[in-house]
Amino acid sequence: MHRIKDIDPMQDTLRKIAAISPIVGRVLDTATGLGYTAIEASKTAAEVVTIELDPGVQEIARLNPWSQALFHNPKIHQIMGDSYEVVQTLEDGSFSRIIHDPPTFSLAGELYSGAFYQQLFRVLKRGGCLYHYIGDPNSKASGGATKGALRRLQEAGFTRVVRKPEAYGVVAYK
Ligand SMILES: C[S@@+](CC[C@H](N)C(=O)[O-])C[C@H]1O[C@@H](n2cnc3c(N)ncnc32)[C@H](O)[C@@H]1O
Repeated sequence: MHRIKDIDPMQDTLRKIAAISPIVGRVLDTATGLGYTAIEASKTAAEVVTIELDPGVQEIARLNPWSQALFHNPKIHQIMGDSYEVVQTLEDGSFSRIIHDPPTFSLAGELYSGAFYQQLFRVLKRGGCLYHYIGDPNSKASGGATKGALRRLQEAGFTRVVRKPEAYGVVAYK
């Protein structure tokens, strides 16, 4: 999700990326949106694989001047599809970093499920880490979603899971 209150999209993106810096190796971005996290990650990553479900969002990105690197940077590979299904087809241990910036829990519960977190754990390299946007930790809904996500990420195998309130999310290490 993009934060809009008291923060602009660039600052929001930089905080997400800073949570798992340095960005190295292959990066998986599970929810392309307008491509801001994918584009920022591509500045230092070897490759970014980014997945978007909604063709309408991709059309908006095509028209958005700040999304153009998505279509022109050869380090960025876009996949259209459902991350829940696409991630199951990716190789074990093939990414150094994962950016998981899904819609809210109420809109995309399967992207916060233990089964999906197990898949993210599987495709992450040992020594790699995942940034997961969840929402304002001080709000009732996102505070509850954060607690559940922390538990399910640990159950999925992540050795350490750390709250990142400044980035409205958590970071999980393998
Ligand atoms: C919050 S936005 C991502 C923002 C992105 N990180 C950026 O910097 O622009 C979430 C995106 O996930 C997409 N989405 C929702 N469900 C999805 C799914 N199951 N698989 C892939 N993308 C999905 C939505 O269409 C939306 O574009």
